[in-house]
Amino acid sequence: MESFDIAVIGAGAAGMMCAAVAGQRGGRVALIDHAPRLAEKIRISGGGRCNFTNLQAGPANYLSANPHFCRSALARYTPHDFLALLNAHRIAWHEKHRGQLFCDHSSESIIDMLKAECDKGRVAWRRPVAVQAVRRGESGHFLLDTNAGEIAARALVIATGGLSIPKIGATDFAYRIAKQFGHKLIDMRPALVPLTFSSDDWAPFSELAGVSLEVEVATGAKRARGAFVEDLLFTHRGLSGPGVLQISSYWQSGDPIEIDLLPGRDACAELLEAKSSGTKRQIGNLLAQWLPARLAHAWLAAHEVSPDARLADLSDKTLRRLGEAFSRWTLTPSGTEGYRKAEVTKGGVDTRELSSATMMSARTPGLYFIGEAVDVTGWLGGYNFQWAWASGVAAGQAAVEFVRST
Ligand code: FDA
Repeated sequence: MESFDIAVIGAGAAGMMCAAVAGQRGGRVALIDHAPRLAEKIRISGGGRCNFTNLQAGPANYLSANPHFCRSALARYTPHDFLALLNAHRIAWHEKHRGQLFCDHSSESIIDMLKAECDKGRVAWRRPVAVQAVRRGESGHFLLDTNAGEIAARALVIATGGLSIPKIGATDFAYRIAKQFGHKLIDMRPALVPLTFSSDDWAPFSELAGVSLEVEVATGAKRARGAFVEDLLFTHRGLSGPGVLQISSYWQSGDPIEIDLLPGRDACAELLEAKSSGTKRQIGNLLAQWLPARLAHAWLAAHEVSPDARLADLSDKTLRRLGEAFSRWTLTPSGTEGYRKAEVTKGGVDTRELSSATMMSARTPGLYFIGEAVDVTGWLGGYNFQWAWASGVAAGQAAVEFVRST
């Protein structure tokens, strides 16, 4: 049997950060992962350039049944701390928009950096190694049955992430261990995911696949409401693009979503004003200035208005109806593209039984849950990696203290 101070299961974003921090503070750490390739989600993230953090990251950018839980860890390890690490490794980066930071070259450089940080902490890599079972020994040690033999550790960190993209190694391991140790789970579901519609409902729009535009998209009511001004993309099966991915995290099955295709514009008033100016313009021509022409024409067809009709010849009622249709398009998705396409899993280990300072279980001393496995779900735009780094650092520091104090 091999013996360590700390075993970290899951060598993704949170697990590598945690292992590196714990190792560099003197902990003897084993980092275990079953996947043949290291940190595949970092590799494919941000279109291969990894949107590794967001300068604006704060509790308001995260969804959780316990909204204040993430505050402490995020405040103690900020985007600037991660940038300092990147700069020390001479990794070039840039801000894309709205505080989203990406690598200039490749997400591989983030993986290499975390690997080097783990090596600096003399972390023992155990991969690809599958953990079959976890038990608690009489001395309070955690005993891990793996396909490479038994591993004992005084502290155990679960960093196996969520359910999204099973084909690259996502499993329900964290949830199973949480349940085994008496933790509650907040319902899990795919988030940051395209929305789909029944084929009948979507038939009129399917020919718009590929059309993209900036919209305001919203769903939900009161405190559970999400509203974003971001790009929307029509697909063959439904809607995608950053705006739709964002509200998918707020969407509840059966709820409608509301889309303003002309955000910042009072379409009714502007159409009526154009008409009263005595213009000879055709409606299709005017709308094509505001929207992608394919979309404008599809909307006109749906309202039985010819794109060649002159504004002057359309009734005020028709213009108002059209304006409203653009500004308040309301439709009800039938579902989502599921974990196959979701960037993250919403829900997970209930944080009300974890310490917000250390990520340690309130039920089992020495047991920690970090990263996406926990019920903290970030917006699109680098927030999920920032949570992985921050929760990883918090647990890495705390696990070393725990081992020293026991
Ligand atoms: P992560 O999934 O990174 O790691 C979990 C590890 O555990 C994996 O290595 C897995 O193999 C291992 N594991 C699972 N089960 C196991 C088991 N039973 N035994 C052993 N090991 C096991 N976020 C962001 O902020 N910016 C971005 O640009 C993107 N882009 C993006 C693109 C795509 C396509 C996806 C799917 C996701 C993103 N994300 C993102 C989300 C981000 O990737 C995600 O939130 C973090 O990787 C979560 O980090 P974790 O370490 O918690 O899990």
